[in-house]
Amino acid sequence: LEIRSADIVCLAVRPDQYPPSDLPEIAFAGRSNVGKSSLLNLLTGRRQLARVSSSPGKTRTINFYLVNDRFRIVDLPGYGYASISREITGSWGKMMEDYFRSRPNLKAAVLLVDSRHEPTPQDIQMYEYMKYYGFGGLVVMTKADKLTRRELARQQEEIRQALSMDPGDRIIPVSSLKRTGKEELLETMRQVLGL
Ligand code: GTP
Ligand code: MG
Repeated sequence: LEIRSADIVCLAVRPDQYPPSDLPEIAFAGRSNVGKSSLLNLLTGRRQLARVSSSPGKTRTINFYLVNDRFRIVDLPGYGYASISREITGSWGKMMEDYFRSRPNLKAAVLLVDSRHEPTPQDIQMYEYMKYYGFGGLVVMTKADKLTRRELARQQEEIRQALSMDPGDRIIPVSSLKRTGKEELLETMRQVLGL
């Protein structure tokens, strides 16, 4: 998969603000500050497409990016910023649930976890949620440049176990800084999007 063009087309907090469900979508979810926006910039080759920040909680809306005029990448708002109970009962939880439940063109969700850390209870919950709604079990380990090859391999197993991943579920280490893992992720995206 080669990304030739990418542009933000919509920021939404409610279903009536979503773009039409005419194109396949792949959604990226993860804890605040995990590196979602950086990953989108890496994938699209556009340094400033999604806003990167050192203060967590930058992305508070569901952001839709149109790619190659063929599919959309969806940047979901990060979690772990407010307390768990506030998120589940509050606007964040409703925003996520509305999106997952009412999006026939959503082909897959990708969970981003930080390479260095154990998945949090919210990561585990998010992963279960994705699987429950039938959006696959693809995981990306972000900031892979922070670990040695050996540490990375060990963390990969830890994360697999913590999330109770099925043997067929893929886990892809990516570094937006060193630009590694991009091709593997793009190829996997091509497959799940049916392109
Ligand atoms: P929110 O939108 O706030 O939820 O965060 P996000 O998940 O979009 O994270 P963002 O891409 O803004 O990155 C958060 C921080 O992590 C920034 O300081 C980035 O520079 C840093 N970061 C992102 N990707 C990488 C990476 O691959 N390697 C390293 N070393 N740092 C990274
Ligand atoms: Mg972001």
